[in-house]
Amino acid sequence: MAKIYESIAELVGRTPLLELKNYEEKHDLKAKILVKLEYFNPNQSVKDRIALAMVEDAERTGKLKKGDTIIELTSGNTGIGLAAIAAAKGYKFRVYIQDQVSKERFQVIHAFGGDTVKISEVPEIVESMEKYGDDFVECVKALERAVSGEKNIWFADQTRNPANPDVHFRTTGPEIWQDTDGNVDILVANVGTGGTLSGTGNYLKLQNPDIQVVGIQPTEDSFQSPERPEQEEITGVHPFENVEERFIPANLDRKVYDDWYEVHTNQAYESAREVAKTDGILVGASSGAAIYAATQLANKPENAGKTIVAVLPDTGLRYLSTHLFDEDYQG
Ligand SMILES: Cc1ncc(COP(=O)(O)O)c(C=O)c1O
Repeated sequence: MAKIYESIAELVGRTPLLELKNYEEKHDLKAKILVKLEYFNPNQSVKDRIALAMVEDAERTGKLKKGDTIIELTSGNTGIGLAAIAAAKGYKFRVYIQDQVSKERFQVIHAFGGDTVKISEVPEIVESMEKYGDDFVECVKALERAVSGEKNIWFADQTRNPANPDVHFRTTGPEIWQDTDGNVDILVANVGTGGTLSGTGNYLKLQNPDIQVVGIQPTEDSFQSPERPEQEEITGVHPFENVEERFIPANLDRKVYDDWYEVHTNQAYESAREVAKTDGILVGASSGAAIYAATQLANKPENAGKTIVAVLPDTGLRYLSTHLFDEDYQG
């Protein structure tokens, strides 16, 4: 029977789970590490899921209408996912993006016909950053102020839009449950908006309350600062523990995770480089962080024989202009 898709919307999700067999053997791991390869989505990241879900929810509820411009604030992947969905569905798209993210991301959004605005060009965001640093939640509020007078726009807002965790509850979680036949003990995921961890974690815990859910955040010295002006950051992830309450995205369910790990950019980079060589998968920095944390968990004696699932958010191809695959780089 012929199987022809009619829109990229139909290609989102149903990504494969791969056991890192060679990596496990090399590290003599006593637990299995299964990685969910989100770069199999049509625009190579986990954010294709939420881009489609947020747009379709807004269409259904009448918030987004023909002729409108979709806007979003993002470090890149959500922008790329939304730019593609906007193109396929005939909407205009404008993304507000951090200045320092890799140039590939700007190029891809332009290729889909989207507009990009560097956040340093938005006075409200600049003012917010002077006050609160580059805190994402405060930046979102500043963007809302900046566009408050504009008509015919719809702000997707992945930090607060409930369609974000909901699509992980409806798709990412069930896919993991089905593909493992329910044999999963630990879920490891990064936290940016918290959508992946919350939606997937809540679904899996509903199936089996004993499943452990583990979040990852970057170490404090992973961030650029006057002392570390050249430091490369793990794109897309944000601290959620030991930070002020108001900096935590609404879409992170703080009850969902049992534990959390801190990973430095260098550790994330090394793990991403390693799995490229051992198992032939090219993944981004936050994926490296997930593999690094999964390895720490696999090395714990109490986790021998267990199955750890790590969600790998995007492709390494999106980082070729960074030092991710530069063996000599020590940030
Ligand atoms: C590369 C990358 N990894 C991880 C994440 C975190 O995912 P979530 O927003 O679902 O917490 C993001 C989010 O922007 C991302 O772009």
